[in-house]
Amino acid sequence: MISEAEQFEKIPCIAYENSSEACRVLAVEVSSLIRERQASNKHAVLGLATGSTPVPFYRELIRLHKEEGLSFQNVITFNLDEYFGLEPEHRESYYRFMREQLFDHIDLPDSQINIPPGTVSREQVFQACRYYETKIEEAGGIDLQILGIGRTGHIGFNEPGSAEDSPTRMITLDKVTREDAARDFLGIDNVPRFALTMGVGTIIRARRIALMAWGENKADIVSKAVEDEVTDAISASFLQHHDNAQFLLDSGAASSLTRKRHPWLVGTVDWSDALIRRAVTWLSRELDKPVLKLLDEDYNEHGMSDLLTECGPAYQLNIRIFNELQHTISGWPGGKPDEDDRHRPERALPFPKRALIFAPEPSDELRALGGTIERLVEQGHTVDVVFLTSGNLGVGDSAAERFAEVLKELADVQGAEDWNTPVSYAGQLLDHLAAKGPFGEDNAALRSIKSLVRRSEARHALRACGLAEKHIHFLDLPFYETGRYRRFKPDDNDVSALCGILTKLEPHQIYMTGSASDPSSVAGVCYRLFQTAMTQTAKEAWQRDCWTWLYRSGEKPFASYEIDMAVPMSPGQLKAKLTALSQYTQEDESTGKRERAVAQYYDQLGLADYEAIEAFRLWKS
Ligand code: F6R
Repeated sequence: MISEAEQFEKIPCIAYENSSEACRVLAVEVSSLIRERQASNKHAVLGLATGSTPVPFYRELIRLHKEEGLSFQNVITFNLDEYFGLEPEHRESYYRFMREQLFDHIDLPDSQINIPPGTVSREQVFQACRYYETKIEEAGGIDLQILGIGRTGHIGFNEPGSAEDSPTRMITLDKVTREDAARDFLGIDNVPRFALTMGVGTIIRARRIALMAWGENKADIVSKAVEDEVTDAISASFLQHHDNAQFLLDSGAASSLTRKRHPWLVGTVDWSDALIRRAVTWLSRELDKPVLKLLDEDYNEHGMSDLLTECGPAYQLNIRIFNELQHTISGWPGGKPDEDDRHRPERALPFPKRALIFAPEPSDELRALGGTIERLVEQGHTVDVVFLTSGNLGVGDSAAERFAEVLKELADVQGAEDWNTPVSYAGQLLDHLAAKGPFGEDNAALRSIKSLVRRSEARHALRACGLAEKHIHFLDLPFYETGRYRRFKPDDNDVSALCGILTKLEPHQIYMTGSASDPSSVAGVCYRLFQTAMTQTAKEAWQRDCWTWLYRSGEKPFASYEIDMAVPMSPGQLKAKLTALSQYTQEDESTGKRERAVAQYYDQLGLADYEAIEAFRLWKS
């Protein structure tokens, strides 16, 4: 039965602590279904998804097969979708994905695997899709459909505009969906424009539906699909019409549900300090009124009269929260020496501090804390930037090609015999580039030149912030060097490398990101490794006096109530940061926008009106 807190959720949602726990629960459900059917000599029919979301779930199924003897001999599978035009052996085809992530590791007979055929001709598409539907029917329909959700709210590849009764068909992929796939395909131009997908109607006929979502980047679309009206603009919202659908979420993906975001609207709450700050800033934004102008009736009319009873009247509560917010602002991210630090986000001592900035990929450090780095350096602290991965997967072929060509031509200009090795190296690279084409896998030499491209960008960018070369470190974590986007397999070697740099640098202050990211993303993997490394080094003396500040780079920015330290920037400082960032050729358009948006939040709450703000949250391990 639905609880008071869940009253706005029109699809049952379970918020798990993390994705592993959710996957374990779902895998148990699947194994019970399979075993139940085995006992009565019947098939279990599963609808399967691809993408990064189900990867940990498939790993759990493989574990159940290998360690607990779960057999898939009686299972029939139907995949949701396939890119149109990709050969099954293409490295990004869903056929290959399924083989690598699941089918090659279990005992499912090939004849029981069904994936929409991406290679049929355009003329054959319609019949092929109808045949797919017929096959599902012949199998007795889908018992359990596994789903992920795209940022457009798609299920399968049912992009906005898909009808509730849509069948399996060919679809044009949305721009957002193609952008999300761009890194897997090494550039947006390589991402197919069309796909074959089961329709919403096909999906909704499954007897049971389990949709998984991880990370804060999915939080807003999840809450819209679950709590807002059903609309064809968000195909996942059609699941509200299914009587046995469920969303399995990690804490990040659940964070925009009303019960998590505004719990006071759906029941009584224990008013912790954090919740009070959240409620007051929410009210201020909701009413578009500065905090100091909120009235008793504003609180009463928005379900917060109990808050007033505990902490009111409004006037007093407003001042309290205003001061709290005011105290998050500091131009001294390393702490201000010789000053009373009781109301400052960072402690004054020790001074100077050793600050360690972890960047999962080059450019994270500058995008999120370029201004802060400059201040730390200027204010006399020692700043070390540690790039956790080389970021080579984000460098396009053309950049590598340019460097290889320059190397080769330089040798021609010089005409020296000593150039033989670099020339042949550059020649091999150019040959490989020509042979592999846009979809082919990069060989080690190509990945390495791409890493060097990023390294030189990173060095130049950080030099512009006043950082000396000896304080720039490239860790090249092995999980990344040997892995592919969103399918990384980190292990102890990665953790040891992190422990090693922590022990060597003995920081007083760490900056890290990834806490809210999809666990399969580079930042998400790095964050988990960082947590483990901090646990493993917990007994080392430096940890007794070390604070960690979380920052957001690619992910959803912090909400105003989540910010513990706000480092303001003048127009000049923002400009300097953008100039430093321009050293990165891969820079995205959002740069500068986020910092300006945070400054606007603060302004709307009635605080000073800065040009931009870099925001941090204190990490509690
Ligand atoms: C995959 C599929 C898509 C994905 C969705 C989320 O077969 O149909 O709906 O589930 O795009 O993708 P990830 O999991 O990569 O975030």
